[in-house]
Parts: sequence; structure tokens; C-alpha cells
Amino acid sequence: MPFYVRRGQIPHKRHTQFRRPDGELYKEEVFGTKGFSGVESILYHVHPPTAVRGVGDFREAPLHPEDEGPLRHRHFRTGQLTASGHPIESRQYLLGNDDVKMGVCVAARSMEYAYKNAEADELLFIHEGEGTLRSVFGNLPFHEGDYVVIPAGTIYQFEVTRTTRYLLIESQSPIDIPKRYRNEYGQMLEHAPFCERDIRVPDYADPVSDPVSDTSDFPLLIKARNGFTRLTLAHHPFDVVGWDGYVYPYAFNIEDFEPITGRIHQPPPVHQTFAGEGFVICSFVPRLFDYHPEAIPAPYNHSNIDSDEVLYYVRGNFMSRKGIEVGSITLHPSGIPHGPHPGTAEASIGKPGTEELAVMMDTFRPLKVLQPATTVEDTNYMFSWLDEK
Ligand SMILES: [Fe+2]
Repeated sequence: MPFYVRRGQIPHKRHTQFRRPDGELYKEEVFGTKGFSGVESILYHVHPPTAVRGVGDFREAPLHPEDEGPLRHRHFRTGQLTASGHPIESRQYLLGNDDVKMGVCVAARSMEYAYKNAEADELLFIHEGEGTLRSVFGNLPFHEGDYVVIPAGTIYQFEVTRTTRYLLIESQSPIDIPKRYRNEYGQMLEHAPFCERDIRVPDYADPVSDPVSDTSDFPLLIKARNGFTRLTLAHHPFDVVGWDGYVYPYAFNIEDFEPITGRIHQPPPVHQTFAGEGFVICSFVPRLFDYHPEAIPAPYNHSNIDSDEVLYYVRGNFMSRKGIEVGSITLHPSGIPHGPHPGTAEASIGKPGTEELAVMMDTFRPLKVLQPATTVEDTNYMFSWLDEK
């Protein structure tokens, strides 16, 4: 988690009396990770967060991996997955393993109920659109280019003000900022490509009129144990008057990622933005090219011997690839090399820079391809490195 944050009203000392204007105690909730040994936040509710009036049925949400075929490079044109609708129910999972899952969603409307992913951190990359993530922690406006990190267990609503296409990454472990970007106190170091100032944290619109203290029934959908449970809460979940701690949703815009460049080609770790157990997330942003007089800016061929590499193409001409479009996902599995397409290494020489924008996920265990991805697959991609001049 990025740093300590405090919002709204909280008592002087934790676990002490803190009363509502009517004399009742506020209901304290410790929202922590790794038992009581990890990072936590402490929230103060108007009503008990435990008050549930009804429990609905359990609905399984199985993923559908394809029958695994031969090892090959894959290309999925996700821009063709145009079905739009609900911010949660319209999610289409495309790739996954036991550590992490990736999908896309086109959210055309806001949510009428609240949602909690109780088993995974979520990272939403906002490709297009804008809106507000409303949660127990306050309001977090988002727009194009934002990474929105939502810790597991956060109750939220995704409010859409403009149809929003987002890339979804769900992690079974906490999504964090790489340790090598931080000093021994947790502060981000000078060599890190972004720092705390670039990170946006939720706030209350008006600490006096917030929170929502409505006591009508309110539906909450919880994702856990490979399915969904619907609870009816006895009050609105966003009844928090204040909180502090290290666990909260936050946003970081990819345009605030300051690229690290060099005289010769810099390897993907310079683009790293987030880390989870079994995977890393990198941001490829517009940047100046390498400036050694004989530099080849395009990447060299490489065998990612023990990792699967996934690229999601956001904007611009990706310098080393042909046939790729906005919204394309390529999957280069471990076991076979990949590299620049024919002619692109030569074409990159002498160019001053690139306007490409892409998000990369490398996983350290093999990914399975899920069925929605195969419906938009470019099956010729494996052969796209043949030089047919
Ligand atoms: Fe690569």
C-alpha cells in the first residue's frame, strides 16, 4: 500500500469511545490483511458493518479454459468484444492462472448494488471513459489512463459518467508497488518512475453530509469461493465517517509514469509499475528512444524462459509489432522466443521516440486461455515473424 492516509473524523486514540451526535457509539471496524500482522485501516461506521437482513443463494462463476493445444504465440483482438453493460456483470475473463486473472469490461451504466471482491485485489486500467469509484473509503474519480487499485474486501460501486472500457487484473495476493522503488521506511526512492504525489486517494465529498446513513435494505454482491453470494445489508454500506491506515483504493495515471531511458535498449523491468505474487505489471509509455549513435531502439529477440508475457495495446503504433490494433492482447508463452517483427528493428533506427502506450503483465506460472478470448483470436499471429519479402 502506498502510505498512511487519514480521512474524515476519527477519535484521538484507536479502540476508544467515539460517539455519534445522538450519543451512540460509532462502530469501529479493523480492515486488515495477513491476520493482524499486515497493513490495515480502521473505519468508523454509523451502523454495525455486521448487520445483515438476508442471505441470497450462492451462484457459481466458473471460468472456461480452452482445451490446451500446442504451444504457440497468441493474439486476441479484444476491441471486438463490444458487449457492454454492467460494470461487474459484463466482465469477460480472458486469461488466468492460480495467481492472477485478466479480462476486459465495457461498463455502460452505473451499479445499483454494492460489490465486494472478497478474495482478490483488483487492478482496473481505464482504457476509455470516466466515472467515480464510490466506496467505504470515499469517492475516487477516475479517467482515461488511470490504474485503479482496489484492495480485496473493499465494498464499492462503480459509477459511470462516460462509457468505460477497462482492463481488469485480479490478483490472489496484494497488488503492491515494487519494493525496489522504496527505501527502508517505505518512502518511494528518487530512482522510482513515480512517487507518492502521483497517487490519488479517495475523499469524502462533504464530511458533514457524508456518510450515507440510510437504513433501508441495501444489496451487496460478494465474490468469493469461485462464485457470488448476495447479501441484504440492513443499511447503506457507505456509512463511514472517517478512517485511517494503509489499506484503501487508489489511482495512478499511466501518463504520470516517468519513463527511464538510456543510450541502449532498456529492459522491461524499467517499466515495472506494480507487483503481485507470481506476476508483475509494466507500463510502456511515450518516451525518447535510445541515444547511442548506433543504438537499435526496438527490443532484441528474447526467450522469456520462465514467464508468460501479456501485452495490452492501448494507443499508438507499437514499434516492434505489425498487425496489432488498439485493444489487442498478445500472449507470448514461455518456451518459444519472440521479438520485433520483420523490418521493425531496422525501421526503429534513427527515430527520436515513440508514442506507444501499452500495459504488460508477466506471469511466472503458465496462463490458461479462457474461452471468450478464442472468439476474437487472430490465429495467424504465430507465423507473423516470417519474412516474406
Ligand atoms: Fe517481450
